[in-house]
Amino acid sequence: MKKVVLAYSGGLDTSVAVAWLREQFGAEVVTLTVDVGGGSLRTGVEARAMSAGASRAYVVDARERFLTDFVWPHLQANALYQGAYPLATALARPLIAQLLCEVAAREGADAVAHGCTGKGNDQVRFDVAVHALNPSLEVVAPMRVGMGLSREQEIDYANERGIEIPITKASPYSIDANLWGRSIETGVLEDPWVAPPADVYEWTVAPGAAPEPVEIAIGFEGGVPVSLDGERLPALGLVERVHQLAGAHGVGRIDHVEDRLVGIKSREIYEAPAATVLHAAHRAVEGLALSKDTLRFNRLVADELARLTYDGLWFSALHRDLRGYVASSQRVVSGDARIRLDHGNAVLVGRRSPLSLYDRSLATYDADDAFDHASAVGFIEIFGLPLRVEAARHGAVGKFHGAAWSWTEPLLDALPTTVADPAGAVAG
Ligand code: ARG
Repeated sequence: MKKVVLAYSGGLDTSVAVAWLREQFGAEVVTLTVDVGGGSLRTGVEARAMSAGASRAYVVDARERFLTDFVWPHLQANALYQGAYPLATALARPLIAQLLCEVAAREGADAVAHGCTGKGNDQVRFDVAVHALNPSLEVVAPMRVGMGLSREQEIDYANERGIEIPITKASPYSIDANLWGRSIETGVLEDPWVAPPADVYEWTVAPGAAPEPVEIAIGFEGGVPVSLDGERLPALGLVERVHQLAGAHGVGRIDHVEDRLVGIKSREIYEAPAATVLHAAHRAVEGLALSKDTLRFNRLVADELARLTYDGLWFSALHRDLRGYVASSQRVVSGDARIRLDHGNAVLVGRRSPLSLYDRSLATYDADDAFDHASAVGFIEIFGLPLRVEAARHGAVGKFHGAAWSWTEPLLDALPTTVADPAGAVAG
């Protein structure tokens, strides 16, 4: 290895890794810091990279592209890993991996490096994505191949070499953050029975301490959010505004025991105020704009896309093709959703769409009802036909009795029942 591009956060681990890679491999180290929002860009990263011995320090502002190219397709798909995690960390990895490969090409580097440990999903995401994009690059993860130093050892290591140390105090948690969410693990959270202490949260107030509820309106075009309370905003501005509002009302806390790709169950806390609100709003508009069959199929696609992203398979053909389906199906998902931010809850209170499939004249129970009630009889006759045939042949299927399903146990005699007759008597 002659020259390596290191994904560099500017934290203690990766600062030590700059020096460690130079000393261990005699390699020139170029750092790459990708700003994906959420406080991921620390001030003075370039200077710190230099103090650690980097020959060059790239800093890339990828915030808008992170949203439009990585987050939006998953919002459009309603993709949540195991139905809960909006995938913030997982979505940033392929973007960073792609930039690592591009900087490696520009710099003529033969390797890339990242600060992931050997137990998590992120190492898999980086390694797999880099090798899909450029199989000739070596991928080194210092934490996985011997750098493993304790925090105290890292501080000593840095001091001995004159590496600037970030002045943040030691957090009891392992944290990753970007515009789409904040992921918190380890420490007391490793006991899934322990309630998350207050110091876990930085973006959301305690729901009980939230101010009076407010209502906001999110506008969508083609399944993508484009406005807040009628004001058109670029992706970054919109997410930052929704983030502030939702966080101030305690919305977006997620407590999840999730299944990592490497086979471990892990307790994770997420703060995802913008993602929570925008997912709820998107589902509401989509519910008006898409057919029953499309909505049902989309749930399968959502699960698959979430799994592929979680498992680091962004640059696979299946991922690309599912994104293609999502983009196509979302063309008609335009409209607005009203959300009340109420003490930790994002409560959907209304939705509308110019392309709505909802037809009030069909839905109404008022006099102007356009639905043909009489034709329901024929519809049910045909729809229920297979079940009537089956019940006639085998009996209607109710309860499981030993080895067979049957409809043998009367309910009426088993339930407390009163019967009134014209004499007013009530029999039990
Ligand atoms: N469990 C999440 C994921 O795999 C978040 C991992 C974030 N890393 C961290 N150091 N907290 O996407």
